[in-house]
Amino acid sequence: MDSYINRIILGDCLSGMQALPDACVDLVVTSPPYNLKNSTGNGMKDGRGGKWANAALVNGYATYDDCMPYDEYVEWQRACLTEMLRLTKPTGAVFYNHKWRVQAGLLQDRREIIEGFPLRQIIIWKRAGGINFNPGYFLPTFEVIYLFAKPDFKLVPKANAHTDIWEFPQEMKNPHPAPFPVPLIHRIISSTDAQLVLDPFMGSGTTAIAALMNQRNYIGFEISATYVNVANQRIAEFLAQQNQSLFSDQ
Ligand SMILES: C[S@@+](CC[C@H](N)C(=O)[O-])C[C@H]1O[C@@H](n2cnc3c(N)ncnc32)[C@H](O)[C@@H]1O
Repeated sequence: MDSYINRIILGDCLSGMQALPDACVDLVVTSPPYNLKNSTGNGMKDGRGGKWANAALVNGYATYDDCMPYDEYVEWQRACLTEMLRLTKPTGAVFYNHKWRVQAGLLQDRREIIEGFPLRQIIIWKRAGGINFNPGYFLPTFEVIYLFAKPDFKLVPKANAHTDIWEFPQEMKNPHPAPFPVPLIHRIISSTDAQLVLDPFMGSGTTAIAALMNQRNYIGFEISATYVNVANQRIAEFLAQQNQSLFSDQ
């Protein structure tokens, strides 16, 4: 395990997680690809772009194109969640961020993915607005964080006062097309006493940075070498800034 600590491993998270022992992490915080290009609407239009032709996600995530048949996507995400929960200690939890969508008139509230896992609560993440090109829809501004908890999971004192609706604007200065805002993940990690935090879909490294801000350790997986480099660069910059302020405090 030691060789994994504070590292982002380049590769597929499912096989990566399968190589780790049971109950080896305290907390999982993650946002998987949303399968956005598998779309019936005018938005991504089967990945061809439609109204969102200029959106960064039209290109998927560097090496991963985010366009699976829905059943296959559900099966993959259930396999990932099974591993995340196997790796989590009896005092731990999994914070799994996802997005509800309406596709061909049916609500995808991710029920097929989460069924049977120990769901304790959902938290609504209210993002800032954006541009709405479609006069037939109100601008969507929320995502859902599913909290799956092991039986002995508890928040640190007073964290329960945060309520279950959290408002944080999305991250703008990041080359990744769908990064978490750091304050969102800081809120999650600082609400727990987790010492080791896993993010199997690490992207640009936000979970790692929020872990370090809270003096916790992290493990990450990420399939794209481009994003592993972005993440390692962000982490190095964060650590350099931290060292600088330590020296200037002396
Ligand atoms: C929604 S993004 C995560 C963004 C991240 N939360 C951040 O703050 O930057 C999902 C990430 O999962 C990665 N990914 C896709 N398939 C993967 C796999 N099989 N194993 C590991 N990472 C994968 C994508 O490259 C993408 O960076």
